[in-house]
Amino acid sequence: MKEQQLKELMTVMTLEDKIFQLLQLLGSFYQDTPDLVTGPKAKLGINDDAIKNAGSILNVRGADKIKAIQKSYLENSHSKIPLLFMADIINGFETIFPVPIGLGATWNPEIVKKSAAIAAKEAAVSGVHITFSPMVDLVRDPRWGRVMESTGEDAYLNSAFAKAFVQGYQGTNELLTEDNIVACVKHFAAYGAPEGGREYNTVDMSERTLREYYLPAYKAALEAGAKMVMTSFNVVDGVPATGNKWLNRDILRNEWDFNGILISDYAAIKELIDHGVAEDENAAAKMALEAGVDIDMMTSIYANHLLDVINKFPEIEDDLNESVYRVLQLKNELGLFEDPYRSANSLKEKELHLSTEHRQTAREVVSESLVLLKNDNQVLPLKSNQTIALIGPYADSTSLSGSWSFSSNQESTVTLKKAFEEYLDEENLFIATGSKVVETEFLESSLGNYFSPEIDMQIDEEKELKKAVEVAEKADVLVIAVGEHYLQSGEGGSRANIIIPQVQKNLIQALAKLGKPMVGVIFSGRPLDLREEVSQFDGLVQAWFPGTEGGHGIADILFGTANPSGRLSMSFPYDVGQIPVHYNEFSTGRPYQQSNHSKRYTSKYVDIPNKPLFPFGYGLSYTDFSYTNFELNKEILTQEDRLTASIDITNKGTVKGKETVQLYIHDNIGSVTRPIKELKGFKQVELEPNETITVTFEIEEKILRFYNRDMEFISEPGEFEVMIGPNSEINEKKIFYLKDK
Ligand code: GLC
Repeated sequence: MKEQQLKELMTVMTLEDKIFQLLQLLGSFYQDTPDLVTGPKAKLGINDDAIKNAGSILNVRGADKIKAIQKSYLENSHSKIPLLFMADIINGFETIFPVPIGLGATWNPEIVKKSAAIAAKEAAVSGVHITFSPMVDLVRDPRWGRVMESTGEDAYLNSAFAKAFVQGYQGTNELLTEDNIVACVKHFAAYGAPEGGREYNTVDMSERTLREYYLPAYKAALEAGAKMVMTSFNVVDGVPATGNKWLNRDILRNEWDFNGILISDYAAIKELIDHGVAEDENAAAKMALEAGVDIDMMTSIYANHLLDVINKFPEIEDDLNESVYRVLQLKNELGLFEDPYRSANSLKEKELHLSTEHRQTAREVVSESLVLLKNDNQVLPLKSNQTIALIGPYADSTSLSGSWSFSSNQESTVTLKKAFEEYLDEENLFIATGSKVVETEFLESSLGNYFSPEIDMQIDEEKELKKAVEVAEKADVLVIAVGEHYLQSGEGGSRANIIIPQVQKNLIQALAKLGKPMVGVIFSGRPLDLREEVSQFDGLVQAWFPGTEGGHGIADILFGTANPSGRLSMSFPYDVGQIPVHYNEFSTGRPYQQSNHSKRYTSKYVDIPNKPLFPFGYGLSYTDFSYTNFELNKEILTQEDRLTASIDITNKGTVKGKETVQLYIHDNIGSVTRPIKELKGFKQVELEPNETITVTFEIEEKILRFYNRDMEFISEPGEFEVMIGPNSEINEKKIFYLKDK
């Protein structure tokens, strides 16, 4: 449709048509189930007219199902405006990729872009138009369950991934193609900093911290063209994001010039009442619309109250028209007025979903997401002539996709056992489950009436432990596949203690007594407290929740077909008591390393170290890289020119490997205190044995800008330190000076 036709459409729509365009409902409202009336409809307090004319639906999948809903909707709706279909496609659609905290560990935006493009293709043929992704919330607290969905603790790295996801979903052309879907960046803003790591808890930070660390990745997603934004559940400076005019109008719309759709998170408009900022549903409707929230996800607040609010406050109708027009524009951009069924195609679904090509890419992404944390005595890579005991509840598990995987069938997941059977002869491989993932009591308590015996592993624990020890005694090397339950991660999955469940610790302890070489493969959606496991295992590999090709990707690393190149994008705490722990901290007035005070009176703990167990940017390889000839081409940087930092990287080992060379900068003196270092660049280089390459980084004034004491985003002249290394603990420095204007 042309813009003029859209405008004409607006003129013929009734006020109710417009209001219902801002309503988003679950697909269950469009499936004729017996409990529809008593269940969802009654609970939401929504009437048939609203259902018949809602503007969008979330979390329905399948070409035939979506086409049927769209067809029936268009036959029954008053305005005949096609529905938008949106879904949570976080780490893949049918082919599931590693969870985003694992994608972040690839430090490879290009491969993440490729994974997003595959997810978009698979989703588009299944009728989905929009994904509620990327989630770019910066995270410093692994107690929070949703670190699983984030790419980590650094604004610069998260911004690179935000751009990659958006370009993967939407493509890089102005117009969307049939293989693209719309990206909805979330959760705006700063949802990743809940106090205590407790889900949905209060977020409270200075505007400087918000702007310096938490906002850049959302902005990067919008600069990459993201067409939608989702509000977050939390308050920002005491005002819930979903009712926050400063956040949504002043920053998002005016400062960043965003003209796309802002959708609430699930039921977040109604939660304005629970937050205590709206006295009733009318007030909540008015507050959210005035704050620029265009779509009401899964409440009846807009549908049931905006008419009344507009009668009382006629000026609100302008906000309504603005929101409705945005929704029509996006429907038009997707071509839905010309073809309401867009890319939905059940034949292409069968052809594209889980295709060999998609699986191969997923397998590569898995191996690039794995982080080798320890490899004593070269226990890895495994040799195919060794006898291996693969033990643990994740040895033959298909629950490898994390808590957001949209995939309809877990059977497509390649288990570790299956992958090992492709690497080893039958007589060289022994398998045992050994223990449950987690105590049944946890599942019963955390799931309540959602608990069903099928979720619980039906094993005889005593018998399984005995069998595990027996097979271990026959093996040369033990590979122990352990980790947290996927329900201990993700939304609603905050944990106060971030350890491997005790039932599995008992298994590891029993096996450690055998004194055999042990390799641990850790499955989790967060950095865990692995202090005990680090001392028990000779080799340790962080595998996250690796998705459909998890078994293959992990086996490729363990058997050396792929050389580990993953680097942590989030610090692993030495102890949960360190949290929040992140590399770009401030020195404090009493830095532990160098201070005029006695050790007692410096910034530290008396019972644990300050340093994390594994730092941001850390990861080992099967080869060794040396960093030599670190140089700056000059010491003075003016406002206009640029300075080149260079360093030689040599592969000193015997196998080809990929190294992620990281550039950090410290602004020694600022009008406000500056982090001891900040990631300002990274490059991945792949080197053959004995090969050397010179890596260079261009440093210019604009990358030195920050929010100064007056909240101006500018650089300040003075001394800077440059560090280039394999992770954030690098401390070899070169100095340069930024000249004044
Ligand atoms: C959830 C999540 C959000 C998701 C939405 C729709 O509560 O917070 O990330 O996109 O609801 O499922």
